[in-house]
Amino acid sequence: MKKFLAMLLASVMVLGVAACSAPVEEATDTTTETKETLIMGTNAEFPPYEYHEGDAIVGIDAEVAAAIAEKLGMDFKIEDMAFDSIIPAVQAGKVTMGMAGMTVTEERLLEVDFTDTYATGVQVVIVKEGSAITSVDTLFEGGYTIGVQTGTTGDLYSTWDLEDEGLATVERYNKGADAVQALVTDKIDCVIIDNEPAKAFVAENEGLAILDTEYAVEDYAICMAKENPLYDDVNNALKELIADGTVQAIVDKYINAN
Ligand code: ARG
Repeated sequence: MKKFLAMLLASVMVLGVAACSAPVEEATDTTTETKETLIMGTNAEFPPYEYHEGDAIVGIDAEVAAAIAEKLGMDFKIEDMAFDSIIPAVQAGKVTMGMAGMTVTEERLLEVDFTDTYATGVQVVIVKEGSAITSVDTLFEGGYTIGVQTGTTGDLYSTWDLEDEGLATVERYNKGADAVQALVTDKIDCVIIDNEPAKAFVAENEGLAILDTEYAVEDYAICMAKENPLYDDVNNALKELIADGTVQAIVDKYINAN
């Protein structure tokens, strides 16, 4: 490794002399030992995967990402943003990776790469207790207003399946919790969202229920910019953390297996 660096530096210097414009700073940069920072882009409105606890952002994704950074010997930082800003931030290189209970979809695969999946998510329907909506099929009878978080699969699927077919109105909110408040105050008829945050939101609010029927079953993974040289390192670290039980231990800490 050292030998390689020395050779690299030597060749940079030779090239520099030949071109009469030695890139001195670049050459010295390669020798500094400052740790790189792994930046996780997320939307911390999604318990138990990522949410605010006081000043901190905690949750399954936050802990798995920190464990990946540790394995790679990198510093670690979380950037909180709107959910639909995560993929653009990843593509622009503003963050190293997006980790946000993010579902792998064909559309997103055109924009970013995904690691191995580390969890399963289910799109469920939250209603008020006693609602006329008793199953996913009821929604296809038409006439209901559905709340979702902007840019999530709950938004995309209900838009394509129901709104575009003239069967429903989709109301989009910045946060899942805001959609749930709109349901509590009767502004909408139901919320379509991932099962784990759904359970957390229903536990926090009186009079809500999650329908038994599932709208969609999905896989969560970490997204990274296409061609990101760190992709293999991140994915291998994740694979190891799955294989040695670390990911499961983190999941168990946040989701009680009743
Ligand atoms: N699984 C859904 C999706 O990928 C919702 C994810 C929302 N995550 C969040 N941190 N708000 O679209």
